[in-house]
Formats: sequence, structure tokens, C-alpha cells
Amino acid sequence: MAFSLFSREKKAIAARCADDFATKMRLKYAPYYRAMEAQHGTCVRHEGHDLVMLASNDYLGLSFHPAVIAAAQQAIARWGTSPTGARSSNGSRAYHESLEEKLAAFLGREACHVHSAGYLSCMAAVASFAAKGDMIFADKNIHSCLWDGIRLSTATVERFAHNSAEDFRAVAATAPADVAKMLVVEGVYSMEGHIGELPGLLAVAEEHRCFNVLDDAHGFGVLGREGRGTADHFGVSDKIDILAGSLSKSLGSTGGFVAGSRDSIEYLRTNSKHTIFSAALSPAQAAAAEKALEIMQTEPQHRERLWANTRRYTAMLRSLKLDTWGSETPAVPIVVGSKERAYRFWQLLLEKGVFTVMSIVPAVPPGKDLIRTAISALHSDEDLSRIEDAFAYAVKKL
Ligand SMILES: Cc1ncc(COP(=O)(O)O)c(C=O)c1O
Repeated sequence: MAFSLFSREKKAIAARCADDFATKMRLKYAPYYRAMEAQHGTCVRHEGHDLVMLASNDYLGLSFHPAVIAAAQQAIARWGTSPTGARSSNGSRAYHESLEEKLAAFLGREACHVHSAGYLSCMAAVASFAAKGDMIFADKNIHSCLWDGIRLSTATVERFAHNSAEDFRAVAATAPADVAKMLVVEGVYSMEGHIGELPGLLAVAEEHRCFNVLDDAHGFGVLGREGRGTADHFGVSDKIDILAGSLSKSLGSTGGFVAGSRDSIEYLRTNSKHTIFSAALSPAQAAAAEKALEIMQTEPQHRERLWANTRRYTAMLRSLKLDTWGSETPAVPIVVGSKERAYRFWQLLLEKGVFTVMSIVPAVPPGKDLIRTAISALHSDEDLSRIEDAFAYAVKKL
């Protein structure tokens, strides 16, 4: 037997990394991990060119709001750059509690817990509450963080057709009556731009005594009164058990939150590994989110501008006969149908100074290869004109 120390053979995992086809393709065509050299608002500098950013989730444009920037700077001056520990041990600060109280009050919940990423919050929102032997019903198009939460919970999972209360009813009917059940859905599906059909889904959940978890990362700030989100948009907030979301979209920060009853949030603090063993949200991120939350309630013009921009943009896409997968929100996909066409379309837009993101199989169903775009309140009329010209050019050349 050869000594592994002297073997020339690559370790199996190292070989997997070196030979991975998807990685080779990504590096060859390089559509992802594009580093911008500078940014101001919707203008980003890339390889020496100024581009319009059309793929950011800064829906309300608050990441460049002067008051949000000032709040983050002041927080660093006061608290340093990091809490350097988990909330459960040395990392809890008054600024976490302040943000949690404000989010809970805004959302009409008893309590809230914030994490350093929306991904952690949404994963914890499922994994902390579901357990082995439970049954989870999940919309088949939910985000990766929710699937990770489901896997981690080790509960049994049943998928139902996207946004279909009818299919959820059929699937739920096959579940044993005596197991604990959970429904996991999103408020806004950002890949498709669809609004979750909450009233119908929650009615079925109620029939089956299903605890429900709503990930409203893309509905928060965009829908509902003052941006309270999708549940508020439908007037069903009181029916939501756990409301999770992100600070990295409408709040122009990074981090996430889980909101619910006092009992459920205290239970999460006892049981969630994401909460107990991960460093807490940093001072600048918390302060930025808290200031943005205040601005959402005092400066309605940002949401109004977001929707006005969205209407102008989607009208333009319709006039070009582009397929937007029935998007109803500022997250707007352009379905082009194959990875070659998606790559070409993405390149053509880039050539004309518009930055978008390509999404191809397996991230989307076969035939749904698309360009992801998202509108921001920060897009100026000039930005939108530049976007319109770029789309007209790309459609002609595709
Ligand atoms: C539906 C949904 N949930 C959760 C997340 C994770 O949020 P974050 O990017 O803030 O970690 C995202 C991110 O895009 C998302 O789209």
C-alpha cells in the first residue's frame, strides 16, 4: 500500500473541486462574482465603465440615504465594529434589543430576534420549531435558506405546487391527523416576482392546524401599509405564526429577523443553533436597519417612487413582448428560455451599460432560464431611459 504522504493522486475532495464542470463553466463565462470598483446609488463602476445596477434588492434605495449612513457611522464610533460574540454569551447589546423592539412593534408581533444574515434568520425560523416526526408542507419554489432549515429540522417534507392552495389541500389531506404540522411559504417569490397567495394557503393551514412560517424577505418594505409586508397587504397578519425576513433588501443593511409571539421567540433563543453559536448582528448593520425602518414610516415617497418606477419598467418590458413570468412586484425576471439565450441577453445588456444577473437551470426549472432584474426607488428617470434603450438593443440583437 502506498503511503498517502507520497501519493501523487489527488485527495478525492480536492479532485472534485479541481474537476467540477459547473465551476469551470462559471470561470470560463464569468457572469457571477463580478466585483464593482465603485458605487454610488444605482451607478456602479465595472471594468472602467459606469453601469446602471438593475439587480439590487435595495428596493427603497435606503442603503445610500444620508441618515442611514450617518446612523451606521455613529454606531461604529459608539460600539466599535463588532459585538465579537453570540447574543447568548458576550455579544448582546442594547442596540439589538432596540431594533428588535421596533421591528416587533412595526409588525404587530410580541417579540423579534435579529441575526447577522437573513439566510440565518429564515433557516432558523424553520429549523428551530420543526422536529423529527413533524410534517412540513412547503411551496416547491421556496428559497434555499428555507430548504436548509427544513433539512436541518429532519422533519418529513411534502412539496406542493407553487402558490397553489388547492394542491396544498390535496397534499395535506394525506397527512396523519396526529402529527405536528408546519406550512412554509414566502410572501414574495423573488425569482418569479410572484406574490404568495396567503389567504388561500392560510385557510388550508388552519383546517389542518398547521403552524405557519412566512419568509417575507422581498415583501417587507414593498407591500402593505408603510411596507409592513405581504401579510399586511392581504390583511392576514394575525394569522401568521412566524414572520421571518431580511435586513438586506428594503432596509439597506445586512442581517435578518424572526418575529412572532413571545413564547416562540424565547423558544428560538433556547433552541436555535444559528442564534446560540453565531456572532450577533454588528453595530453598523443594526443601526442602518433601525434608521431605515424609521424612514420607511416617515418618508412614503421612497415606496411610491419604487412602484412608479416598477410600473414604467414593466410597461416597457410588455411593449417589447418580453416574458416576465407574471411578475407582480419590483423583482422582475425576464424569461428567455435557454442558458445560451440568457447569457447572450445578459451580455447585450451589459454592453449597453445595464447590470443584471443570469439565472439558469438548475436554479430555475427547465426552459425558464432567465435574467433577474429588480427595480429600486433610486432609479432616476435617466437610469430608466438608459435601461429602456439597453433592452430595445438587446431584444433586437438576441
Ligand atoms: C426569500 C429569501 N429569503 C431569505 C434570503 C436571505 O437573505 P439575506 O440575503 O439577507 O441573507 C433571501 C436572499 O436573497 C431571499 O430571497
